[in-house]
Amino acid sequence: MPKVIAILNQKGGVGKTTLAVHLATSLARKKKSVLLLDADPQGSALDWAAARHGEPLFPVVGLPKSSIHKELPAVASNFEMVIIDGPPRVYDVARSAIMASDLVLVPVQPSPYDVWAAKEIIDLLNEAAVYKPALKKAFLINRKIVNTAIGRDVADALSEYPIPVLNTAICQRVAFAESATQGLTVFELDPDMLASQEINGVADEVQGMLS
Ligand SMILES: Nc1ncnc2c1ncn2[C@@H]1O[C@H](COP(=O)(O)OP(=O)(O)O)[C@@H](O)[C@H]1O
Ligand SMILES: [Mg+2]
Repeated sequence: MPKVIAILNQKGGVGKTTLAVHLATSLARKKKSVLLLDADPQGSALDWAAARHGEPLFPVVGLPKSSIHKELPAVASNFEMVIIDGPPRVYDVARSAIMASDLVLVPVQPSPYDVWAAKEIIDLLNEAAVYKPALKKAFLINRKIVNTAIGRDVADALSEYPIPVLNTAICQRVAFAESATQGLTVFELDPDMLASQEINGVADEVQGMLS
């Protein structure tokens, strides 16, 4: 069975889709067979895939339902890794994604509003801990502003929650939005740029947590 990583946060606009697409791409570039599962009724990851002209790097399948955990084995058994792009708000879908996962990543932006809003997903994860004690989880700081203290401050603020923060943070970089317009990723704009290195750093950490 594949290793399943869900990117979840009930708050919209924190970077779930951006990070799901990029993490899937990084793993595919490391020769993993990857499936990206779009669990958001809005279908942003599917839109990203549809905007793409070149070869797809991995299949993107829409499954914005509370039956993800039941359907995933049939859909994903031939893949090594599954990345789930989570929905905002819809609790039953998020809960199903948690049940299907080995690791949940919670993106947060360096802002107190995001730190407070993370309580919702943490509550869901705490609930899941009862029936899924082996579930791994971590915060992933996204849109950190280079050369500011706020990224470190937010890591401190997040330490009040019972889950760790990944060592690698993703900075605010216009290349993430620019590349998405054409269904591309930062790797295709410039594989050596810092944005690509950060994403690869997250992929390395995630693989380490799952091995
Ligand atoms: N690290 C980043 N740097 C710059 N823009 C980003 C970054 N992460 C996300 N964005 C932008 O922020 C917006 C929201 O991101 P998105 O991935 O759609 O969030 P979500 O899926 O959580 O709603 C998008 O316009 C996206 O391009
Ligand atoms: Mg999204």
